[in-house]
Amino acid sequence: MTKKIVTILGARPQFIKASIVSHVIRQTAGLIEVILHTGQHYDANMSNVFFTELGMRPLAYSLGIGGGSHGEMTGRMLAEIEKILLDEDPDAVLVYGDTNSTLAGALAATKLHIPVAHVEAGLRSFNMKMPEEINRILTDRVSRWLFTPTEAARTHLQREGMPDAQIVPVGDVMFDAALHYGARVKAEGGVLQRLGFAPKSYMLATIHRAENTDDQQRLTAIANALMTTASKLQVVWPLHPRTQAVLQSFGLFDMLAKSITLIDPVGYLDMVQLEKYATVIATDSGGVQKEAFFHQVPCVTLRDETEWLELLEAGWGRLVSPASAVAITTAIDAAVGGKGRLIQPYGEGHASRLIVDRLLTDLVS
Ligand code: UD1
Ligand code: UDP
Repeated sequence: MTKKIVTILGARPQFIKASIVSHVIRQTAGLIEVILHTGQHYDANMSNVFFTELGMRPLAYSLGIGGGSHGEMTGRMLAEIEKILLDEDPDAVLVYGDTNSTLAGALAATKLHIPVAHVEAGLRSFNMKMPEEINRILTDRVSRWLFTPTEAARTHLQREGMPDAQIVPVGDVMFDAALHYGARVKAEGGVLQRLGFAPKSYMLATIHRAENTDDQQRLTAIANALMTTASKLQVVWPLHPRTQAVLQSFGLFDMLAKSITLIDPVGYLDMVQLEKYATVIATDSGGVQKEAFFHQVPCVTLRDETEWLELLEAGWGRLVSPASAVAITTAIDAAVGGKGRLIQPYGEGHASRLIVDRLLTDLVS
């Protein structure tokens, strides 16, 4: 008998991860997928662009719940998701990562005794001030399948006492995506042509974490550091809407726009092009840190900690607290031209197939 999976997503990186897994589900006899978008990300360039560009199935449900405080957003999602799960009566619910949409989906399903599959389980920053750390710990705790991207993630779950039978090391679906789409993206055309940028002649920056955007001292340090770099190397910064709003409210936007190419968020294929042909990347994004490595570009992570320690250990990434502009520019200068050790910590590029096979096996048995 065919088994039904409801996939719950809402934020940009989840659309990219889910596009890869959904593609495999579609090719798998015995499984059907119903996709529910919470609406956490709603601008066309934060949401629709990915569904169109990555060939995803049409959404079955779109809740339109974005913005508001964490509790309000998560609570509204929980109430609406519950109604849909009662109607759909799925065999499993699939969630990704560590956003408010992840937690709302996992909680709604668990309370209805529907088993939850968590992709990107076991990641930890050990910083409970991060909303993502709260979301991922709670989601892991209630999930039936814990699909881990790295050895470190598996170890975290074991230390927390999660049963081995629930931990499924599969590798990172972002690596699958980088292999699949990375090969298609070339230097010609795309956003590079639109901007008039030559390959390997610029730094790519992205910033969106609350700990950086909501702290004026940190955001100012980042802005000053990027302007210093821009005197030596062109800088392109696709602005997350949260960051754009805060830069404007702190009065930093106009000053930055004089020396840095500030652009709206771009689609995934344009982003891969910007990453692949960058000289160096500076970011606080989880996904972008790893993509820098997948495309063999040195990366400076502007945070106090990272979930992806293997990249630091292998020399691909540098971690710098964005409290000081000088520390950031020093780290960027040191990163340029550097390479790390050859490592393969994110699986073989078949994480999506391993996830779907395991779900099928367990659901039919
Ligand atoms: C969220 C996730 C974060 C993830 C990121 C991916 C949580 C707690 N955080 O952070 O883990 O790394 O998504 O990008 O779930 N906004 C718009 N248009 C949009 C989307 C957002 O204007 O399409 C604005 C809204 O004012 C919103 C703010 O950005 O209040 C922040 O969005 P939100 O989804 O709460 O957090 P992110 O920073 O995007
Ligand atoms: N990304 C994108 N366009 C952008 C910025 C990011 O397609 O303008 C992609 C990026 O390549 C990566 C994912 O979005 O695959 C990362 O999302 P984000 O940085 O928002 O969240 P995080 O990974 O930190 O949760």
